[in-house]
Formats: sequence, structure tokens, C-alpha cells
Amino acid sequence: MEKNMLKDENDRVDGFLKVTGKAKYFAEYDLPGLTYGVLVTSTITKGKITTLETKAAEKAPGVVAVISHLNKPPAAAYEQEGGPQMKIFYTDKIFYNGQPIAIVVANTFERATYAASLVKATYAKETFNTDFEKALKDPKAKKLQGQADYKRGEENAYKTAEVKLEERYFLPIETHNPMELHGIIADWRPNNQLTVYAKTQGVKATQGTIANVFKIPMENIQVNSEFVGGGFGMALRTWPLEIATIMASKHIGKPVKLVVTRMQMFTMVGNRPAAIQTIGLGANKDGKLTGITHRAYGETSAYENFTEGVVNMAKFMYQCDNVNTSYVIVPVDLGVPIWMRGPGEATGAFALESAIDEMAHALDMDPLEFRIKNDPETDQQKNKPFSSKNIKEAYKMGAEKIGWRNRKNKPGSIVEGPWQTGYGVSVGVFNANRGKASVKGILKADGSLLLQSATSDIGPGTGTGMTLIASKLMGIPVDKITFELGDSSLPPAPSQGGSATLSTVGSAVNDVCVALKSTIAELAANSNMDATSNFVDVLKKNNLPQIEITKESQGGKERDNYSMYSFSIHFVQVKVNNLTGVVKISKIVSVGDSGTIVSPKTARSQMVGGAVGGIGMALTEESIIDHRYGRYINNNFADYHVPVNADVPEIDVNFINKPDPYINPMGAKGMGEIALIGFSAAVANAVFNATGKRIRTLPITPDKIL
Ligand code: MOS
Repeated sequence: MEKNMLKDENDRVDGFLKVTGKAKYFAEYDLPGLTYGVLVTSTITKGKITTLETKAAEKAPGVVAVISHLNKPPAAAYEQEGGPQMKIFYTDKIFYNGQPIAIVVANTFERATYAASLVKATYAKETFNTDFEKALKDPKAKKLQGQADYKRGEENAYKTAEVKLEERYFLPIETHNPMELHGIIADWRPNNQLTVYAKTQGVKATQGTIANVFKIPMENIQVNSEFVGGGFGMALRTWPLEIATIMASKHIGKPVKLVVTRMQMFTMVGNRPAAIQTIGLGANKDGKLTGITHRAYGETSAYENFTEGVVNMAKFMYQCDNVNTSYVIVPVDLGVPIWMRGPGEATGAFALESAIDEMAHALDMDPLEFRIKNDPETDQQKNKPFSSKNIKEAYKMGAEKIGWRNRKNKPGSIVEGPWQTGYGVSVGVFNANRGKASVKGILKADGSLLLQSATSDIGPGTGTGMTLIASKLMGIPVDKITFELGDSSLPPAPSQGGSATLSTVGSAVNDVCVALKSTIAELAANSNMDATSNFVDVLKKNNLPQIEITKESQGGKERDNYSMYSFSIHFVQVKVNNLTGVVKISKIVSVGDSGTIVSPKTARSQMVGGAVGGIGMALTEESIIDHRYGRYINNNFADYHVPVNADVPEIDVNFINKPDPYINPMGAKGMGEIALIGFSAAVANAVFNATGKRIRTLPITPDKIL
């Protein structure tokens, strides 16, 4: 890794490398003898391949190999825990439209692309269904329990409440569209030595999956993933396309690079599954919640089950003695979903936080007041105190900044020409996770510190955060510290997911620094030096070029006594045009309550990125399928709309910035997910406040407003 360019806490270590094009992403590695893989995909949605004609492709210029179920090289079945995984090229069965059925490898990408077009398949088609709503209504369609039913107090207590509501919310499929396309370079060498350059959120997880599939020792596999151009959850598992590429490299004895197309991003690397939710809320006339019922149906694939935490939030976010939830997954003939930023919680928060706003309206209460009135002192689900929670302070801070006092409780009250102005608020919450990680610290007599861990940085600024933690503890200037990551040979760390990296790896950085300091203090004492001596002098006096310490950190049992969550509040001001139905988000104030802020710049960026993702979720993003063919029809950037600069107003990011006393030595909780969770409901609530129209189906497009 090149030396970090961090000058102070307002820089990021990878900023210079990224904006100058010096950061090297997986697809940019050029290995000697590199070949190029292109996938052939199914054009039917369900059935069997009857013939697969590959001769023309094999004879095409530059082609090295065509691999399919007909000539699959021997390798172990592709299996991970958690259900019947699709085994690439192991069957003639088709489970969804766009499923990889062959890989063509050639000496150039263009030749591979051309040859792939020459592969012809014929099929025996079977009837299929890609329509989630249809599957849900079909009594014969499979329905599987996605999470155990939850009940506290009376079931469906809302039905007998003084004031009640029951509403249905729909979220379409959303597709991760990071700038960087998914793929891998695989270089299989003699003696089963494998090096991969991967797009992954976890180099150790990738290494483990490959070892498991190909039945070779972990030590034989080197996974490199220093820079990742956005992950959002889609790079949390190793996909069949990666296994296909490794298979091909093993088969031909040369390195193979495969980068999927933007269209293939819609079918090969998961998505946020569609969800249908009903929320029942009951309250007494004073505005106290007396019943919450949250029932969710999530989409999954026919060949592998996927579940997420859609109904988690309803169980603890509000003080209420009667709560019940259920979560059912419904298979359709599509590729398997995966986590997408804020995973199920973002889905659930859209419904719950919309319903909370609807209840406040029904009670003729300010939605902020209603939330404060029902704010719990303890976690009623876990029956534990919160480790830290400053929501009321966050409400106050955000309300002040957005100008909540200008909001009128009666919808449609603020009108200027065709523009109607409204204000909305919503809460986001996500588990404050912390796992087990190891970090090695090498303190050198030249005054520098090198830290190493096999963690990832998919963009949030992990390297920067770790550098700042170490700098503060060691008193070493930031430009003398290097944090190496994205390399499976480094001390193990979990995948970057679930907003846990800073908490998990940062704790190990903390422990390494504490150990290095005490070693220096011991050395100083033993050589009759002052206890406050600089480590460079201590090392020199002891003739040591460096000292090296590795620490594993997981945290103590004390944490089990607390309920640990990160919280966010999103305030949104919208202007809705009543002639065109266009929703313009005119102001955003986000407040994060996630413990200590370690790295102000990257923390702010996280919240900004979450808000931008939230705008997409609220207003534009929807993966549309033509159910006659089971194919996506807007699988490109012209038709799948993500927010652009003109859609994004100034985002005012604020943090409570108070340490959580129990989570970890930094007092810092995760932020990645809460930056997005709840945001879409804040927009829907603002649109209601502006227009009196309640939109319960995302995205909120002009046709739904008019
Ligand atoms: Mo995140 S959805 O855990 O990458």
C-alpha cells in the first residue's frame, strides 16, 4: 500500500489515491497471460437445458475454453450453510432468467464476448412465476417462516384500541448499483495455489468459501481486495460467477478475469427483495401506543432462501406492552436476494415509521411529540437497559436545524404557486454489532507504526478510522501510521457488514496500541529511562529496530447486560409540485446517535451517502420485471434511476457524539446502516404533510402523487 496521505483528522487516508486514480481496484490488475471470461446466461426463466451448442464458440478466434454443465471440471459442490445453494454448472436446470449456463474464456475480452454470443442453448420450458404479489395470493405457492413469530402481551391488541389503524406497505425490488461492477481475477497455479483479486466485503470469508468449494487448504488461497468501489451488501458472499471464474482458471492453468456487465448486476449479485407489510397500530386518545402488529412478507428465490430483519424494529423501538410480529418468505423464480444497506431494517422502517406518522395524524398530534411520548426507557423485547440512547436530544437537535416549528400539522398548509411544502421525520435503528478481530501492530524505531488486519474498506473510511484511533492512543502523528487491509494473509477479521467494522477492528487496534505502550513503558523502565520517554528513544536505546504485537479482541461478557443499538433521526423538507407530481427534496437534516465519532469526515460522508441512498429508495429506485418473460426491463442506468446531484440538496449532518460506555474502548457504535434506515419514511411523511397524500408504495413517483 502506498503511504497514507492523512495530514489531520479532516483527511482520509485513501482520499488522494482515489481522486487521482492511483487506488487499484480488482479489475485493474494485469497478470502475465491474463485471459478473459464472459458468461452465457439463460434466456428462459424455468426449465431445463436440452441442448447446448458450444462448438462454434470453441472454434472462434482466441478462445481458450468453454465450460458448462456438459464439461464441468471436477470440483466440490458449491455449498455454504443456509440452504440449497445454486451449484454453478452442476445441473441442466434453470432456476431464473439470466442464470449463468456457461463461461467462455478467450485471450481478449472482445473475443470472449463475441464467442459467448455463438453459444446456443435450447430448453424445455416449465411454467414459472416471478410475480411476488401473485405468489403471495396463490394458496398453492410455498410460504416459509422467515423468522420466529414474536409476541409480547396480547396479540393484535391494536384492533380493540381507542384509535386504530391498519395499513399495507409495498417495497419493490431494489438493485445495488455501486459504481464498480462485480467480478474477480483468479490465478490458479500448480500445486493448487490460488491468488484472487476480488471485489469482496470480506477477504477471509472469500478465502473460506473458495477453500470449501474447491477443497483446498485456506493457506493455499490468497485473496486481495485492497480497494472496493462500493459494496452495499452485495459483496458479502462469493457468488457462482466467481466460482465459475476460478474453475476456468484451474481448468486452463492461466489467470482469468471476469467482470459482469451492468445488466448482469441485476441478476447475479442479489438485490434488496420486494416486501409487503401490514402494520396495525393502536393507541389511546392521549397518544400512548397500546398495540403494534407488524406482519411482513419478503421475496426469496426458488433455489435458496434469504431472510432479513424486516420486523426487528417493531419489537423495541416504541414503548408498548402488546406487540406481535411475523415474517414469511415467499419463493419466486428469480435470483436469490442479498442484504442491501440497512438490509431488512430499512424495509421495515419504511412501513413502521410511515404508520407511526399516520397514527400521529389520526390523533392530531405532532409526529415528533408522538414519538417522544412513546419513547421507551428500556428495551422491552430483551428486557435490558439500552447501553446508550440519546434519541430525545437528537429529536431536539434535528427539529431545530430543519425548522420544525415552521411545519403545520394540517397537511397541504404551505403552498406557494404550484409548490406544496411539507416536513417529515423518521427514526432509524440498527444493532450496534461487535465481533472478533485480530490486528498486528509494528512499532518502528523510525517513528512509524504499521497496523495490519484482514478487514475490508468498501468505502466508509475504515483505514482512516483505524489510523485516527491509533494516533490518538499512541500520540503518533497520523502521517506516520499506515493501516493495511484487504489481504487475506493478514491477521483475521470479519467481513465488512452490519455496521460492525469500526467497533470490531477498532477495538483490536485499541488493544494493540495499549499493549505496545505498556511494552515501551517496560522497556523504558528496564533501561532506566524516564517513563515518559519517546518510543523511538526507547527502541534505539534497546537496539530494537521494531516491536511487533498481535491482539485479538472480542469484548467482555458485560456487554450482554445491555441492549445495544445505533440510532438516527432523519428530517426532510420536501416541495411537491401539484401540476407535475414531482417531489423535490429541499432540505435534509440527519442526526446520528452512534456513540463517539472517531473520524468526523468519513462519519459525515457515511450519513451523506445514506441520505442519497435513501432518496433513491424513496423516490426513484425500482427493479421492474416483465412477468410474462421473467426478465428485468430496466436493468441499466438509463432506466434504473439512482439519485444524481440535482436530486440531492444540502445535507446537514449532525452527531450526538457521546461515548457508549459498554460497547468498546472507543465508545463508538456503527453508522453504515442507520444512515439509510428510516430515510424513505421521512420522505413519505413529508410528502403527506405537503399534500395530504399518503403514499405506501415505493418509490414515490409523480404518477402516484397526481
Ligand atoms: Mo451491509 S448490507 O451489512 O454491507
